[in-house]
Amino acid sequence: MAGNLGAGNLGDGETGGADTRARLDRLLSQIRSAGEHQVGYPTNQRFDYSPLYPFLEYSLNNVGDPFHESNYWENTHEIERDVIAHFARLTRIDPDEAWGYVTSGGTEGNMYGLYLGRELFPNAMFYFSEDTHYSVLKNVRVLNARYIMIKRQENGEIDYRDLREMINVHRDLPAVIMANIGTTMRGAVDDIDHIQRILQDSAVTSSYIHADAALSGMILPFVAEPQSYGFDAGIDSISVSGHKLLGAPLPCGVVLTRRSYVERVSRAVEYVGVHDTTLSGSRSGFAPLMLWYALARYGEDGIRGLVEGMLETAEYAVQQFNARGIEAWRHRNSVTVVFPKPAPEVFRKWQIAPEGREAHIITMPHVTRSMIDQLIDDCAAPQPLESSAGGETPWPN
Ligand SMILES: Cc1ncc(COP(=O)(O)O)c(C=O)c1O
Repeated sequence: MAGNLGAGNLGDGETGGADTRARLDRLLSQIRSAGEHQVGYPTNQRFDYSPLYPFLEYSLNNVGDPFHESNYWENTHEIERDVIAHFARLTRIDPDEAWGYVTSGGTEGNMYGLYLGRELFPNAMFYFSEDTHYSVLKNVRVLNARYIMIKRQENGEIDYRDLREMINVHRDLPAVIMANIGTTMRGAVDDIDHIQRILQDSAVTSSYIHADAALSGMILPFVAEPQSYGFDAGIDSISVSGHKLLGAPLPCGVVLTRRSYVERVSRAVEYVGVHDTTLSGSRSGFAPLMLWYALARYGEDGIRGLVEGMLETAEYAVQQFNARGIEAWRHRNSVTVVFPKPAPEVFRKWQIAPEGREAHIITMPHVTRSMIDQLIDDCAAPQPLESSAGGETPWPN
């Protein structure tokens, strides 16, 4: 007997089929209306991958290292290599020296960078700021690595004085540093040059820097005066999300590092005829296709235009908030606009991200000036609001 799948059990014939369709229709309309008020999370909702739909009829699987042969032929390794070469140029490393793969998202990319750091320096101390994405603490715990959480400055950057002090105390150990290239809540970019100076001054024997550039990794390559973020600044690996700036219906990302490092963790697996260098075994073959298609469709100028538009909208939001007496700010080259946490009613209508006494919106391409005007009206309005899209409030206590 089929398990209970809810209102319409799959494969139950005409009635079940109608129920199933009705349920899917209901879900779709809920999701559509939620998207109209999504201003707080960095996922670009504007994309069209319809030319790729025929590939969904195949069991694509990119198991193994995209730079090696595989016994599983329904893969998109060749396209994946092109995606990695593209991101190598964006993150300022010669594609011939770079290695990487398409991940399931930012968490896996960070995990991979930290894993390599641990494999290269097994007794290292790991350092990252308290404003780091929550996945990193989980990652270092999974790796069973020793870590020190460094204080953050008010603006969200790592506190360099605290970092210097901690590295000095442990200068007998290799240092693995997780640098934020755009923090989740405040869009802050840790100063890689400053971190390098601290490492040099403290005379640690070995070090490794992983950059978490989930969102800003697709912004900084396209602005006139970026903060340091790439391999040219001395990072050893970097993770960038695919579903954030480019937008995608399935979460994905890329992780890049130096080819020479990966040889240290590579292992041949006869069963699938691959080199096992990636974290996951079976991997999406569709995700590299989406990234490749988005990069090709936009082109460099298209992405530059997208980024310019997002930055202009972010600046518009800051000015409009401030004009209404609501203190809002953002970092240079950042589309994350931080403002005081609004009333619970605002959270019922809008998807905005809260933390402590702050909240933020992120001006992704689908976030229009008119959405911002409405949001600011709602933040400034005496509560409760006239209309509400959601049900229960997600307001954290
Ligand atoms: C800075 C940063 N790093 C990592 C992640 C994790 O990405 P994912 O949710 O794709 O695993 C996020 C997610 O928002 C993020 O903002």
